[in-house]
Amino acid sequence: MTPHPLVRLLRSVLYVPGSNPKTLSKAPTLPADGLILDLEDSVAPEAKHQARHAILETLHATRDGYPGARVVRVNGIHTDLWRDDLAVVLPGRPDAIALSKVESLEALDQLVAVMGALAPDADCQLWPMIESPLGVLHAHAIASHPLVSTLVMGTSDLGRALGIPGDPERIGLRHALQQTLLAARAAGRQILDGVYVNIRDSEGFLAECHDGARLGFDGKTVIHPAQIEPANQAFLPGDAEAEAARRILEAWNAARGRGEEICVVDGRLVERLHADQASQRLARWEMARA
Ligand code: COA
Ligand code: MG
Repeated sequence: MTPHPLVRLLRSVLYVPGSNPKTLSKAPTLPADGLILDLEDSVAPEAKHQARHAILETLHATRDGYPGARVVRVNGIHTDLWRDDLAVVLPGRPDAIALSKVESLEALDQLVAVMGALAPDADCQLWPMIESPLGVLHAHAIASHPLVSTLVMGTSDLGRALGIPGDPERIGLRHALQQTLLAARAAGRQILDGVYVNIRDSEGFLAECHDGARLGFDGKTVIHPAQIEPANQAFLPGDAEAEAARRILEAWNAARGRGEEICVVDGRLVERLHADQASQRLARWEMARA
């Protein structure tokens, strides 16, 4: 069985338009667990060239000292832009390339072939975006590519492709969210929920964070600084949950000391799997405090 990955904390990952110098300089000072420096939908066609170089500058400036993930989103491989995107940004040594609208494993092979030619020694992972019906249906093959570490849901594009009206409960998206999450976990990958576009609706945003956390997502992609802290809180076990996890581990270890494989904590059965779960929860909690 593939274990649940705890590669790094990705509670909040902020999209930053590559064409906006103000957001690019502000982003690394914010408490997000990672940044997606964007060359795709937030950048006008005539601004792509300048945005590539601005992103390269940000990558250099954050090479040392920035603790989060430094990711660049390039334009899809159906465009004539992604090769130039890669050629400019790869020397900045991003941690990962996010590729929009991935629908097949072959798309990643094509991307990797070009990356290999441009920067043979780049240690760069892939964050494919799943944002179309075909992407969802092929998510497991896509997630299984050896360089993929994280899947990213693109819920706005997906909702449009599925013909779903904006719905706070995301009823129409549910199956796709869960199927993509299953695909990520089956391949041992992390996965991020899509964005919440109403930046003034903090209540709706928080509800959607909790929804994503309940579904099993590692975190949420966000678009505005005000969304970072609420996402960081929503995707972490709270202090009470951490304390409960500690009690489970203590009791489990004591039971193992007696040669037993089960025990009861706070009225609940605890077996090895619950102890493993508790130790994962505690590890996440401790990572966030480190
Ligand atoms: N990254 C970094 N900084 C950001 C930011 C982001 N995504 N969004 C806003 N900020 C900064 C602003 O520059 C401003 O900085 P200042 O206080 O130093 O002037 C501050 O946060 C407050 O911003 P605010 O005025 O509330 O928002 P705005 O009207 O300037 O911008 C958006 C609103 C939606 C245009 C902007 O948040 C944005 O571009 N988000 C990302 C969009 C994106 O990447 N989309 C593609 C993926 S879906
Ligand atoms: Mg999209």
